Amino acid sequence: MAQNLSRKILQAHLAKPSEMVPGEEICLKVDQTLTHDINAVMTYLAFEQIGLDRTRVETSVSYLDHNLLYLDHKTPDDHIYLQSVAKRYGVYVSRPGNGICHAVQVARFGAPGKLSMGGDSHTPHGGSIGMMCIGVGGMDIATAMTGVPMRLKMPQIIRVNLTGKLRPGCNAKEVILEMLRRNTVKGGLGKIYEYTGPGAATLEVADRVTITNMGAELGATTSIFPADEMVRKFMKAQGREDQFAELGPDEGCSYDGEIEINLSELEPLIACPHQPDNVTTIRQVEKKKVQQVLIGGCTNGSYKDIARAAMVLKGHHVHEDVSCTCAISSKQIYKQLLKDGYIEMLIDAGVRLLELACGPCCAIGQSPATEGVAVRTTNRNFKGRAGNPTAHVYLVSPESAAACAVTGTFSTAQEIMGGDVVRLEEILEPEAYPIDDSQLIPPLSVEAAREVEIVRGPNIAPLPVPDAPEQHLKCKVSLKTVDNITTDDITPASAEFSSMRSNIPLMSQYCYHRYDPAFAARAKELGKSIIIGGENYGQGSSREHAAINPMYLGVKAVVAKSMARIHKGNLVNHGIIPMIFEDPADYDRISQMDDLEIVNLRDQMAQRRVEIRDNTKGISFTAKLDLSDSELEVILCGGQLRYLKKQLQEMDEK
Ligand code: F3S
Repeated sequence: MAQNLSRKILQAHLAKPSEMVPGEEICLKVDQTLTHDINAVMTYLAFEQIGLDRTRVETSVSYLDHNLLYLDHKTPDDHIYLQSVAKRYGVYVSRPGNGICHAVQVARFGAPGKLSMGGDSHTPHGGSIGMMCIGVGGMDIATAMTGVPMRLKMPQIIRVNLTGKLRPGCNAKEVILEMLRRNTVKGGLGKIYEYTGPGAATLEVADRVTITNMGAELGATTSIFPADEMVRKFMKAQGREDQFAELGPDEGCSYDGEIEINLSELEPLIACPHQPDNVTTIRQVEKKKVQQVLIGGCTNGSYKDIARAAMVLKGHHVHEDVSCTCAISSKQIYKQLLKDGYIEMLIDAGVRLLELACGPCCAIGQSPATEGVAVRTTNRNFKGRAGNPTAHVYLVSPESAAACAVTGTFSTAQEIMGGDVVRLEEILEPEAYPIDDSQLIPPLSVEAAREVEIVRGPNIAPLPVPDAPEQHLKCKVSLKTVDNITTDDITPASAEFSSMRSNIPLMSQYCYHRYDPAFAARAKELGKSIIIGGENYGQGSSREHAAINPMYLGVKAVVAKSMARIHKGNLVNHGIIPMIFEDPADYDRISQMDDLEIVNLRDQMAQRRVEIRDNTKGISFTAKLDLSDSELEVILCGGQLRYLKKQLQEMDEK
């Protein structure tokens, strides 16, 4: 039977059941795992507790790429721990300076048909080369590393048929911003977007990564392109053509839905504060004075992106009121740009080159000024994501960002270059990248690895493990939130906060710090509590600290109108019960600090429907539990770590 590309790859990795039905749980064998420094300590602490001798997937890679500002001892403590624990368990390390995880992973480890899980929501970046790449929480990565098949709710597969060709001055960013404009940040929940058609064939891998990476902002499980001639070219340029295999949808295959986008009709777009789906055209957006521009990041930090931005800037200078920085996504790209003269163009134009790292994208440096307008080529513009909740962040392509840097307001490459904008089309990805893997530390042999001592500085605190839910829960509402709460709202990012993530007792004091600074103290004082959330609760970054910190503060359940996939998985893993209002109108009837009561909780959970009494208001309401059998079991036994240990013990006993 003719199959689409996504089903082919999922089928090839299916452990159980034999059928893949959208909405039903499937379990998948994983080929590769990826972690990065600001989320990974919890992953490896969990893996240590599991007690295996070595990672059991083909390739596990630990990236030291997000926080390279060593403000004090905490981040170097983390990096030294991560490097030593990787050596102990057979994991590659990508050292600081090698580049941003997704860019390096696709270039040096990715291959068509593989299935990868990453502890970062932008893991789908690798879908650009016909891989199935899924972002999950850190505990899921520890689980994947045991070789136990990973559970996933089978998504719907949506075909995105691309026709036409991008116009000069336009970037693949226009495609993903158009997807967000049409489908919103919730539109991709429970879906895989599979890009095909003649327009897709015109896009190089560097273009495709922008689309698959930022597909995370749609809430999608992942996004994928076929492994075609463009992928062969990329793999050849990486010196890995032997790992290329053509892979695409079968002729006449079916999909669960279809979207059409004509690339020729797109024009430069801009996502306005504070959501990536708040999209309009640069032509129509209200002109504002721009204070800061950031070019690069994992979404748009490719050779082609940076070179085209440099061409827009050539012969111009960054506006005197603009601070313009550039974060190139990998060392090999940097070296090629240097060789081809683009770095000089950037420097001559007054652009400041940053480390080859995430940096400002997750508020590690370069925060905008008070009420500052920042233009970025990254993927998220949530309030506070850039480190300053008063800032207004707009998302655009590198070509448009460079134009904004020159004029000091929202502009396009066409406005700067006029008819010469067609010259941008001459800039394509290199035929060969300067390969240099000296910053990648390969795994040790099994024997040598056993001799490695894991180094734990004072910032490495033990991993807290939740208790199983009690049968009779009586507690208050510690927080009632609005819609679209992000994991950045729950666990703020910045150089300072990110360096606390290995130390939950410390980090939990800053839970919801920017949204409600009194929350952490209140929740702690209550001892146990429930959070009431709106729509799309927990969207954004995969960081599991957004579940661990509330768990540590005694949060037992979150009742929301709807919930983002990765965050829901993280809540399950860390023993917080994710519940959905059966009637969303009940949200309005509950207030913060109401007294809630659930009798026979564990029994009711088994029915996937829980009645909650609000004793303050004298009302009752019901919540659904959208959980598979195994997810339910995980929560009932007190989180994924306890569950996994039990599973492995049972496997050993057989
Ligand atoms: Fe890094 Fe930002 Fe990408 S934090 S992985 S550059 S989304």
